This record gives sequence, structure tokens and C-alpha cells, in this order.
Amino acid sequence: MDKLLITGGCALQGCVRASGAKNAALPILAATLLADGPVTLTNVPRLRDISTTMALLGRMGASLTQEAADRIRVEPRALTSFIAPYELVKTMRASILVLGPLVARYGEADVSLPGGCAIGARPVNLHIEGLRALGAEVSVDSGYIRARAKRLRGARLFMELVSVTGTENLMMAAALADGETLIENAAREPEVVDLAQLLIAMGARIEGAGTDQIHIQGVERLGGAEYRVMPDRIETGTFLVGAAMTGGKVRVEETRPDCLDAVLQKLREAGAEITTGPDWIELDMRGRRPKAVDIHTAPHPAFPTDMQAQFCALNAVAEGVGVVAETIFENRFMHVPELQRMGADIRVEGNLAVCHGVSGLTAAPVMATDLRASAGLVLAGLVASGETLIDRIYHLDRGYETMEAKLLTLGAHIERISGGNGTLTP
Ligand code: UD1
Repeated sequence: MDKLLITGGCALQGCVRASGAKNAALPILAATLLADGPVTLTNVPRLRDISTTMALLGRMGASLTQEAADRIRVEPRALTSFIAPYELVKTMRASILVLGPLVARYGEADVSLPGGCAIGARPVNLHIEGLRALGAEVSVDSGYIRARAKRLRGARLFMELVSVTGTENLMMAAALADGETLIENAAREPEVVDLAQLLIAMGARIEGAGTDQIHIQGVERLGGAEYRVMPDRIETGTFLVGAAMTGGKVRVEETRPDCLDAVLQKLREAGAEITTGPDWIELDMRGRRPKAVDIHTAPHPAFPTDMQAQFCALNAVAEGVGVVAETIFENRFMHVPELQRMGADIRVEGNLAVCHGVSGLTAAPVMATDLRASAGLVLAGLVASGETLIDRIYHLDRGYETMEAKLLTLGAHIERISGGNGTLTP
């Protein structure tokens, strides 16, 4: 199992390019199942979750060609199986995203229930109820969601909770349904908009993506398309927090400042000077220590839960006290005990983490528990004195493309220790 070894103490300086967004590429790959022609995607990040999705589509009979490092062509026509098996779904919950497209296009889908995960119970009841409202017969047995339908019928869907993949699954299903669908209380995340734009390029009739009411007029068929995946706002935010914590200056290019309002506001509150252009963000901390900030996670456009761990790391070394409220996932403070092992003064009370900033962290061996928690630990390692060894970084590889290579270009002292034989690889 690979580990990361980080020697803290360097201010991040320089320029880095944002990769394509994992959380946009995953639903977009699932959406290719709806097409009756080839779909070519560019700016697809090279991540473990992407290879898992490609393996899943391949197993169903889709033909996938990696035309260049970030370019994939999917030809979904010859599908022979409509099953997402447990052994793939358990490694990546987002596999649930094939449910809507399969039942809409092929009339059947058997998708393993994802089960719980490190950050919370994460049920999928909204996906199931939505599909039933669209006319699918859905049963749950032997750990599988089994959905069948001749043709889905448009309906008015009210989402009891704002769910990102729930909204995406139902929007994809409704795109091929008979008649009009209205999704109320829809997720407004930029990745939902990116998916809608791909669907529109394939011939779907969708209005209102990016608001909490999405109108979909079902069409008979969807065709092929070529589409560029949006940049990753969470990866962008993670590098910016790294610059803020280390007192550095970093410019992230090929990104979308308009998707990061809540995060940039908090970084400014922490004392960062931020300038933006149409596709870049520059953060200059001028060697200063950040000020602690209060965070309240909530659905977009509020502060994203996927940036919470990184801001816990920032608060850990900031001046003052920051209170972090996690309102989306019930168990998303797994990084806190690890940060405490590095000397952080953070107290968790229910869904609050009260962070008293300390003047410095000390390196320790720590364990990554989930994707964004790992990012928080990497950032903590960048400021800790000594060598921090982070175990179980396969979590990080699920969602950050070549993170250590990018941090190296920003001046960090970081190396991957390959799990195979314990040798160091740059
Ligand atoms: C997506 C993101 C993930 C992010 C999360 C919240 C992807 C691939 N993943 O996950 O990175 O952290 O949004 O921004 O895009 N819920 C239910 N029933 C459901 C569905 C959700 O109760 O059927 C609850 C969840 O347990 C959670 C909340 O709703 O408490 C929001 O979850 P949701 O938006 O669905 O998260 P994901 O789409 O799984």
C-alpha cells in the first residue's frame, strides 16, 4: 500500500493546473449509456474512480477507447449486461449513477446497494423513490436494487433532501422518459450543470440546471456528442488552502473561480489576498499566518462539505478559534483524531469541530480514512515540523490527479513510498 512522506515547512509557490472534475466526470461517463452514438470526453482526470467507472461500463459491454491521456471515447451501443456488481460498487459509491441511465435506455438495471461508508450511512432512498415516481418497478433484494420499466413517464419529483447524485440520476432518467419531469429541490452544484450540458449536447431538453427546479422534456433518443469536463473546484480549493496555510503564493490555472465563491470568501476572511481572472485564481498569503474561520457546510452555493477537512487543517494552525459545522454527513470528522496526533487542538461536539489554532504542528505517522480527510492530512503535513508519513493514500488517488507531482512543482517536499517493496519513488 503506497504512503506519502512529507517534510513540512516550505511555503507553496508557483503555478498549477486544475484537472478535470472527478464529480463531473463520473456522472458524465454514466450518461454515455443513454446515447445511441459515440460520446467523446476530454479533460477527464486520471483517477482511480474514473478507471473503476470505465471498468464498470466495459463489463456491461460498452467499448471504451483512451484516445489520449485525458480523452476517452465511449461507444455504448452493444450493451449486453445491465448489472453493477457489489465488488465494484463497494469501492465506489458513485456507481449508483448507472441506475437511472440503464433503466431509462434499456428498461432494466441491477445495481448493488452501496452500503455505508466511512463518512456516514449515505442511503440512496431518494434515487429509488424518484425512479418509482417515474414509473419504474423497483425492488430491493439480496443487496441489489432491481429496477424495470418499459418506458419511464415524466413526473413531478420533490427531493426531500438536496442530493447531488440523486438529482443527477433522476435528470438522466427523465431525459429519455415520456413527457415532462420537474425536479424540485434539485441540487445546484456546478457538476449537475456540467452533466446537464452534456445531456443537452446529446439532444436532451433540459432547463433550469443550476437552480433548484430542473425541467426536463423527455425525448425519444439521445445521440453522440463531444464534451469537455469542467475543472475540479475541490482540487483547486485544496491547493489554495495549501498556499494559505504555508504563507505562500499559488496560482491555479484552467479553473473556474465562479464555482468557488464560498471557499474564496473564507480564504479572504483567513487573511489571503485573492485575485481572479476568467479561468485562474491567485492566492497570496505574504508569509502571514492565517486567521481561524467559522465554516458551515451546506449544499451549493454554500460552503462545500468536500472542503471541510482542508479548512479543519487550516484552522488547526491559524490564529484564533474557528468553529466548523458539518451539516451534510454525520461522521465526517475522521481527520480530527489524526490532526490531534500532530498536535492540533480540536474538540468535536456532535456535528461541530471547535478548532483552537496552535502555532505549529509536529509530524506524526497518520492514516487517511477517506478522500477529503486525506487531503486535510496532506495539508497538515506541509506545515508540520518533521516528516509526516500518511498511510492508506489510495483514498487520495481516488480523487486527486498526481497530487504529489503537482505539490512538488509548488516546492513541497513530498514523496510517494511504494507499498510493494518499501522503496522510495519520486
Ligand atoms: C456527492 C459528491 C460528494 C459530496 C456530496 C455532498 C459525487 C460523486 N459525490 O455525493 O463528493 O461530498 O455530494 O456535496 O458527486 N441522502 C439521503 N438519501 C439519498 C441520497 C442522499 O438521505 O437517497 C443524504 C446523504 O446521506 C447526505 C445528503 O443526503 O446526508 C447529501 O448527499 P448527496 O448529495 O446525495 O451526496 P452524494 O451525491 O452521494
